[in-house]
Amino acid sequence: MSYQRIRVVPTTPHIGAEIYDIDLTAPLTAPVVMELKQALAEFQVIFFRDQPINFGQHLALAVQFGDVHHHVGPATESKPVPEFPGVRVLHFDQHSKKVAGEDWHSDQTCAALPPMGSILHITQTAPNGGGATLFGSMYAAYEALSPLMKTYLEGLTATHDGRRVFGPDAPVNSHPIVVRHPQTGRPLIFVNKAMTSHIDGLPRDESEAILGFLYAHCQKPEFHVRFQWRDNSIAFWDNRCTQHKAIWDYYPNVRLGYRIQIKGDKAPAMA
Ligand code: SIN
Repeated sequence: MSYQRIRVVPTTPHIGAEIYDIDLTAPLTAPVVMELKQALAEFQVIFFRDQPINFGQHLALAVQFGDVHHHVGPATESKPVPEFPGVRVLHFDQHSKKVAGEDWHSDQTCAALPPMGSILHITQTAPNGGGATLFGSMYAAYEALSPLMKTYLEGLTATHDGRRVFGPDAPVNSHPIVVRHPQTGRPLIFVNKAMTSHIDGLPRDESEAILGFLYAHCQKPEFHVRFQWRDNSIAFWDNRCTQHKAIWDYYPNVRLGYRIQIKGDKAPAMA
């Protein structure tokens, strides 16, 4: 695909691109937004550097892609900003017992309509390159499955149980294991270690063996990009076709950032 208004530099063969020649503190024109949508669809996660955006500018970027998704379920390691409840603070330091997103996951797949994407702005990076985030392409993971495994998974659904992560009041929903991205039409693996509890209708041991295989498969570094944050970097991921994992290797140091999730408009489906 070609880009006329932004510069797009891929970071790996399967996933990720850095976006240059853009200022997210200024209003974005419709053609620039169109190219960002194109880049997100093509690269699944896009990265920006040196973007000291405020909450209003963060929201202004998000709403170009959809309405703001409000976290479903009880409070977690991330907390809403009181004046901007769509923005959640991720602040971790020497008092933290855990951090958000340490297990491989897609955001809020326990919801009937999981978010289409998330935009994370890190304002205070952990020292010495700590606190990186890994992103995995679930397209690439699907494509690398054997034909027999693809056939086996066809038509199966799995339960995503938010109580595993967010506590007793979180939602529980089933989604197909292989879904088609609503925009690109590409098939991808849609189960994740943090949220998926079991494959529906299978004996427990078979479900555990297949999910264990899929998690190990999706965690292969061949499908990943590792994003090394700097202050005022931004990662914008398409939550429908990626998983991510936050690396907590910076305790007791501080890492601070703000995340907005964008509403999905279609439930995950194979059709
Ligand atoms: C998350 O899972 O949304 C947090 C990712 C991160 O802090 O790098």
